[in-house]
Amino acid sequence: MSALITRLTAPEVAAAVAELPPMPSSIQEVISACDDQDMTVGQLSQVVLRDQSLTANILKLANSSFYGHARRVTTVTEAVVMLGFSAIKSLAISSHTARLLSGSLPGYGLQQGELWRHSISVAFTARRLAVEVQLAPVEEAFVAGLLLDIGKTILSSYMENAFEEVTRISQERRVPFHEVEAELLGFDHAELGAQIASSWSFPPELEEAIRFHHSPSGATLKPTLAHCVHLADAACMMLGVGLGTDGLMYGIDPASLAVLDITPDRLMRLMDDVGPLVSNDPFGPA
Ligand SMILES: [Fe+2]
Repeated sequence: MSALITRLTAPEVAAAVAELPPMPSSIQEVISACDDQDMTVGQLSQVVLRDQSLTANILKLANSSFYGHARRVTTVTEAVVMLGFSAIKSLAISSHTARLLSGSLPGYGLQQGELWRHSISVAFTARRLAVEVQLAPVEEAFVAGLLLDIGKTILSSYMENAFEEVTRISQERRVPFHEVEAELLGFDHAELGAQIASSWSFPPELEEAIRFHHSPSGATLKPTLAHCVHLADAACMMLGVGLGTDGLMYGIDPASLAVLDITPDRLMRLMDDVGPLVSNDPFGPA
């Protein structure tokens, strides 16, 4: 191993996760409000209005071609009714993570905006797939898809010295990129992503789907969610929708197609719906 490659220890990972910008309280309040069974549309709208950029994004989404609404939506209350509480929650999470996912990641050779583009592509695909195979709640698939590579935002600085070697070994041994990443750095980006999700108190099944997004057969809490985001990630990489840098030797787990009872043809047809959403991304950073 190159002397320049630094292996991470568990306490170093925990410290790096703790250093990520905390979720703003205004966003946390929206997430909690969306989960509150007793919350009314009017009350949720008031909570949303406390965050200007979230308010702007919600109106942007409600008026986007994604929803294809004929009439212009001008108030947050109308948008909340139209989008539903779960979509508002996804938007709140997106509005925080968009900033983190939009930066350049030199360790993975990603220019500014490229990780965001891949992440939002996988999120849209995972939600579309969840609708197709009736995997509820579909917004959970969207959020898991959005966050599956967020661990790269931490690992990137360590990968700057390791990327070439990880790539070389992956090609020589014909083993998946993330396995070599874990071998050389001590952790792969999937594990780091799961730890970030845990630090944000996301549900354990969402944390699990991120942890096993390359190897979904390892999931036990909600395997269908892990298989859904795995297929979405693999489909986006294969079709070049968005971009993936850990696509090397990344095969589709055949179990995913069986578990979700979907054929490769049907999966590829879903992708026709995703391309236009990505090119007109209403969730992107303001
Ligand atoms: Fe990944």
